[in-house]
Amino acid sequence: MEDKVILSIENLSKAFGKFYAIKKVSLQVSKGEITALIGPNGAGKTTFYNVVTGKYKPTSGRILFMGREITNLPAHKIARLGLGRSFQITNIFLENTVEENILAALVSYHRKGLSLFKGMNRYKDLLEEAHSILEMLGLKDKAQETAKNLAYGDKRLVEIGIAMAVHPKMIMLDEPTAGMTPEETERMVSMIQTLFQETGITFFLTEHDMKVVFSIAHRIFVLHQGSLLAQGTPEEIRNNPKVKEAYLGGSLDA
Ligand SMILES: Nc1ncnc2c1ncn2[C@@H]1O[C@H](COP(=O)(O)OP(=O)(O)O)[C@@H](O)[C@H]1O
Ligand SMILES: [Mg+2]
Repeated sequence: MEDKVILSIENLSKAFGKFYAIKKVSLQVSKGEITALIGPNGAGKTTFYNVVTGKYKPTSGRILFMGREITNLPAHKIARLGLGRSFQITNIFLENTVEENILAALVSYHRKGLSLFKGMNRYKDLLEEAHSILEMLGLKDKAQETAKNLAYGDKRLVEIGIAMAVHPKMIMLDEPTAGMTPEETERMVSMIQTLFQETGITFFLTEHDMKVVFSIAHRIFVLHQGSLLAQGTPEEIRNNPKVKEAYLGGSLDA
């Protein structure tokens, strides 16, 4: 049982001044599943994401990733342990091509393992790896496009490509479909499903759009005013009266 758990959160709290955005949240994420953290705007989803990925230090509580405590590690160390995260679009090099963006992430990841990439083959190997990532994301024909010219949905896919370059065991995405058109949303959802099936990477995403979550998550956690309100399968969450109430008039049945 225990080794099925990839991420374990124990009594996690995060305060901004006197205000607790996250209140004593405990949850466990299983390896090889798509898990979603949902909740209305302001529930604390992004704060949770930022604390777990090392952007913010928690006020109290513990975070264990693959059995190892990562509670106060800096973000780049957490990423290197295999917990990938999507970066905001502002972290994409907009003046560079899609391929160059993925290459830059790969170069940075492999810097500490130069022996793997000796001599003439190094660049070729990186390029091959970049192309296989772009192929999985359906972006191969856009490899030579300048990033700034991409549609919004494609930019967000490049972010995921950058996250994949660190060979993650688990990828955390904060509202991967935020601001997308219905078509872009559908494409992102099916892309996450494809990546999950092809790589076996554990996915954890935050979302406010219930429809997105019900179609892809194996397990759902519901956050409400910083506290964990419910957890279960999509079916259990859909039928949970407390969840319905938290989403008052929301799109639960959509
Ligand atoms: N850096 C911050 N400083 C102060 N308050 C913050 C900060 N970040 C988030 N909050 C507050 O924490 C609460 C949860 O925000 P957030 O985690 O962004 O929610 P969600 O992502 O679920 O919409 C909100 O009330 C927000 O105003
Ligand atoms: Mg948010």
